[in-house]
Amino acid sequence: MEQFLEGRTALVTGAGPNIGSGIALALASYGATVACNDVDLDNARACVARLERNGYRGIALQGDVTAEDEVAANVQAVLDAFGKIDILVNNAALLGGKGVLDETAEAFARAVLVSGLGTFLFTKHVARSMCERQIRGSIVCISSSHGWSASPGVVAYAFHKGGINNFVRAAAMDLAPYGIRVNGYSPTAPTPDNPDLVAKGTAPLLSGRGGRLGGGGGDEEWRRPTHYTGDRPPLVPMGTTGTPTDIGHCVAWMCSDYARLITGCDFVVDGGARAKNFSYMPAPASDLLGPLPVVPME
Ligand SMILES: NC(=O)c1ccc[n+]([C@@H]2O[C@H](COP(=O)([O-])OP(=O)(O)OC[C@H]3O[C@@H](n4cnc5c(N)ncnc54)[C@H](O)[C@@H]3O)[C@@H](O)[C@H]2O)c1
Repeated sequence: MEQFLEGRTALVTGAGPNIGSGIALALASYGATVACNDVDLDNARACVARLERNGYRGIALQGDVTAEDEVAANVQAVLDAFGKIDILVNNAALLGGKGVLDETAEAFARAVLVSGLGTFLFTKHVARSMCERQIRGSIVCISSSHGWSASPGVVAYAFHKGGINNFVRAAAMDLAPYGIRVNGYSPTAPTPDNPDLVAKGTAPLLSGRGGRLGGGGGDEEWRRPTHYTGDRPPLVPMGTTGTPTDIGHCVAWMCSDYARLITGCDFVVDGGARAKNFSYMPAPASDLLGPLPVVPME
């Protein structure tokens, strides 16, 4: 792998075993040293263990992205260990949720705080460290396909991911004078490829019937179904939305000098899913030539 992030220090929030770990591994594969934050220290440690298994360096940090003192302490710990932060990936979020008929005030507020406040606090503290040191860094905020279009059962998630998309543009404007770039990346239900998750048999989100997005409703007699419950038709023009490894390659490139003038943008690696017209039903994946093989990280 070309070491275009050599000498860079990265911080990834919510470095759980799926997308956060995939991004951390990619940043390390391209040469960065990676600090892995999570509210659950076991997740952060598992992420670092995966980096080390593959011959890379990282540190694990316990911290709640919604607590400013913990965010500041995490940022200071990385500065103490490595002297600077060049890359921040705001990845922590609470997935799932409920629809507008069923969501609670508490769950709605917590989901918005983790995504919105957490992204703001880490961006603020890391960006201040970059400005002080004249680091022309890169900040990537992880959004979602649900930040751009909707499904039933995820009203808080759709709300805060939509907010992330315009936070990216606002922060990009605030930080452009300092040479700091801020971009979004919108995952589209990647198929988990971390061996730890694959061993547990984690199912791809888009396969089979239904899916695991959002919570169910109540049993009142006026309830109507929100989901088609038959076998899913093909949904993705190229047959697959990829894996966290595909996301990692893209995010690492977004943080490289090749992307020096890219700011305030959103990226997808989704096999054409977001570009698809609502009425177009692609051919089955088995009939397609399919994408090139993924470039593996481990
Ligand atoms: N998995 C998908 O299909 C999918 C699709 C679109 C977007 N995304 C986005 O990608 C990102 C990662 O998703 P994932 O599937 O890896 O999720 P995940 O639930 O596996 O990982 C999220 C991590 O965030 C951590 N976290 C939760 N609250 C926190 C807090 N207050 N402070 C610090 N850490 C906290 C969790 O402990 C967990 O390890 C999220 O922003 C998610 O919204 C995921």
